[in-house]
Amino acid sequence: MKTIIEPFRIKSVEPIYFTTKEERKAILEKACYNPFRIHAKDVLIDLLTDSGTSAMSSNQWAGIMQGDESYAGSESFFHFDNTIKQITGMPLVIPTHQGRAAEKIIFTILGGKGKYFISNTLFDTTRANIEFSGAEGIDLICEEGKHPTIPAPFKGNMDVEALKKVIKEKGPANIPMVIITVTNNSGGGQPVSMQNIKEVRQVCTENKIPLYIDACRFAENSYFIKLREEGYADKSVPEIALELFSYADGCTMSAKKDAFANIGGFLAMRDLDLAIRCRNLLIITEGFTTYGGLAGRDLEAIAIGLQEVMDENYLHYRIRSIEYLTNKLIAAGVPVMQPAGGHAVYIDAKEFLPDIPVDQYPGQALVGALYLEGGIRSVEIGSLMFGKYDETGKLIPAQMELVRLAIPRRVYTQSHIDYVSEVIIDVFNKRNTLKGLTIIEETPMLRHFTAKLKPVQ
Ligand code: F0G
Repeated sequence: MKTIIEPFRIKSVEPIYFTTKEERKAILEKACYNPFRIHAKDVLIDLLTDSGTSAMSSNQWAGIMQGDESYAGSESFFHFDNTIKQITGMPLVIPTHQGRAAEKIIFTILGGKGKYFISNTLFDTTRANIEFSGAEGIDLICEEGKHPTIPAPFKGNMDVEALKKVIKEKGPANIPMVIITVTNNSGGGQPVSMQNIKEVRQVCTENKIPLYIDACRFAENSYFIKLREEGYADKSVPEIALELFSYADGCTMSAKKDAFANIGGFLAMRDLDLAIRCRNLLIITEGFTTYGGLAGRDLEAIAIGLQEVMDENYLHYRIRSIEYLTNKLIAAGVPVMQPAGGHAVYIDAKEFLPDIPVDQYPGQALVGALYLEGGIRSVEIGSLMFGKYDETGKLIPAQMELVRLAIPRRVYTQSHIDYVSEVIIDVFNKRNTLKGLTIIEETPMLRHFTAKLKPVQ
């Protein structure tokens, strides 16, 4: 087997900035141990997110120049609209400025007090939009998905038996929608199998509940199905994606992921009445129905990116590059989510730092240490992001304490990734010296974005 190479050559480069450890110590303190508070210029390798951080292709940049900026009926909208119809098979497409804007619209219309939205795992903004409407979000990840270091092919699957039980308990009339997130971002970027989607569809049909896909990483998920699920090896990624969407009544998507765009998103559906209600809200909050808060050039970049992402040479390299970093860490004994996910490497911070209790946020402590050691920015997906308090003010921790190293698409080369693994292994070797953190300031919702913390004495 030969080395799997980046399936592109580099036409334009961007500098990255080096800092000393002393400088980073001061920066981290000033940022109150929260990576969202660090200036990007002070980061060497930025693995905070794969969202909106992709390198666009020369074709996308050419499309940017050709973007039609007409307020109504822009040609770029029709390019966008036709591409999404073709990929998803859904007849009604609504552009939005990013994924959460699509979520805000759909949950404002279908949410509200007494309603329940059930998912394999809701992403943080999705959950926040559901809760903001007054409704409740329920995550029903399969058993395999709860154990980071035990490998299984489809750890993003929903627990179908639990779904039946919850529907019975809450009543189908109180459940406006079941949502499958592909791949399951908060659960390790793990894929969902076609079989699982079919089974969930069956339960939804029996209970007359619409099924939606959170499609941010649909191409990565489709490629995993091709690799791992029986009967799909000879199908193309567009065929697999079309089948995946065929089981759904609609989808939300952030084009900042699997569309290689720096901004954008959409809602797509089959129900015309619902689409009319969504479009009314869109016009008030986002923009007219043929641009939805985006410039014509963004619509063009998204349309081109959505086609590019389904190229199997790209997906092969993409999935392999995440696996490459995961395998290096496994070989050094670092506890990571296994098998490798589609867009990120997830370190199991609970196992990495067993002496730091969950109410001292081991994940966030590790995020700080990776920055301090090597200028790498990562994000905690654990109790800082998802923790809640009970009536007595005691922390109800998240199911897992993960640190996500999200790999931007087409941005970093193999030597960047080698450096990242060296830094993580260095920190692992001195893990006993790391200290927990305590929160000194926080907001009631999505607190991880702005929270201030300090080391435990
Ligand atoms: N759903 C999933 C599964 C996501 O991962 C995200 C964003 C969204 C919805 C919201 O999309 O950012 O365009 O509003 N995830 C980013 C991340 C922010 O870092 O994983 P958005």
